[in-house]
Amino acid sequence: MSTLAQPPDRGRVRRLAGAVAGAVVRPGPGSLPTRGGSLLARYRPELLWALFALANYVAMVAFESWETIPFHFIWISLTLLYGFRVWPTRPMLMILGAVMALTAESISLDAFNGTQLWGELFEVPLMAAMFLAMAWHAQRRVEAQLVAERQAGELTSMLERHDRFIHDASHELRTPVTIARGHLELLRAGDPGSAELAVALDELGRMDAIIERLLLLATAGHPDFLQISQVEVEPFLEELFMRWSEVARRSWRLGPLPDGALAVDPERIRAALDALLENAVKYSQEGDAIELRARRVGPAEIVIEVADEGCGIPREALARIFERFGRADAARARSTGGVGLGLAIVDAIAKRHGGRCTVQSTGRGAVFALHLPATPVYGPAGEKGIPGWVLPAGG
Ligand SMILES: Nc1ncnc2c1ncn2[C@@H]1O[C@H](COP(=O)(O)OP(=O)(O)OP(=O)(O)O)[C@@H](O)[C@H]1O
Ligand SMILES: [Mg+2]
Repeated sequence: MSTLAQPPDRGRVRRLAGAVAGAVVRPGPGSLPTRGGSLLARYRPELLWALFALANYVAMVAFESWETIPFHFIWISLTLLYGFRVWPTRPMLMILGAVMALTAESISLDAFNGTQLWGELFEVPLMAAMFLAMAWHAQRRVEAQLVAERQAGELTSMLERHDRFIHDASHELRTPVTIARGHLELLRAGDPGSAELAVALDELGRMDAIIERLLLLATAGHPDFLQISQVEVEPFLEELFMRWSEVARRSWRLGPLPDGALAVDPERIRAALDALLENAVKYSQEGDAIELRARRVGPAEIVIEVADEGCGIPREALARIFERFGRADAARARSTGGVGLGLAIVDAIAKRHGGRCTVQSTGRGAVFALHLPATPVYGPAGEKGIPGWVLPAGG
């Protein structure tokens, strides 16, 4: 990552500083924008400040014995303006020189006339020094901001390349795996009892699952990853529950479910809940209880929980099980056929919906909670609305 540690390109920093401030001062008159309106709009803060400074300069000349007040107004307003606009160095020095000359001239005139002490003139370089200290800090801030922006951009593009690589590699692996599986299945048709063929097919099935899940993870950042539609919470979870309760012999329980609808991608949320229920079955035994339930939490969240009475998760493994290929116990996962991508997918789906997935390992088993942000909606205007629960669109 040596590129990240490089010092900022000063020229670019300066140009960007101008852009950040919205006030790039061009090197020559030929490159000045021609449309007066846009120029006025761009430099409106500077123009307002110039008027304010001019008024204060007039006040300095008119009220000689009170000139310390407009004098300080000019310097304070210049410092404040620079804090927001951060001009490039040359125009900043030119403006500083002009303000120094004007304020020094006014004080000198008064000193000649005997209405001010000559010592007052020291105020000018002192105020200029204060301004330069502030300018130095402001420029450092802009430079740091630009470096941070550049690093964020590099990180984003690196992550995009990383995801694209995973996507392409998984895609390329798909075809040979499918062909190999076809050949092995033909062989098995001629020798159904072969243990070697069964192991090979099993491993290919595992590779298939890895490829499919990696492809899904690699596309999780795409803008069209979610197809949002309105989903009634109760029938949606009931249907899921019925399907799973027929698959595995467990003590299935359907807990309380809230009314209302969620604006989510039903396919993705179903895939996430399938992964949680699959784990609950995989890491429990016949007769153990598995409960599916949901509740509202406050006005802006709905939580869907899958609780099981299985083997539970050691405390030290809780943090890593949401990582790709993160397993609580590698040996156990291998024996139960786990790839270690199910929870990473749940996590990605939850995050794309603006939510998150959490886990608690209870004394007996584990509880996984899918938190989805929701905002209440009401029926059509004029009707007595029934509160529903709709997620913000997008994700
Ligand atoms: N309900 C659960 N009870 C106990 N351990 C669990 C439970 N759910 C997940 N785990 C642990 O978390 C790990 C990660 O789960 P994850 O679903 O990501 O992977 P997996 O189940 O091993 O493989 P797969 O990719 O096939 O889902 C599991 O290997 C397991 O150790
Ligand atoms: Mg799993």
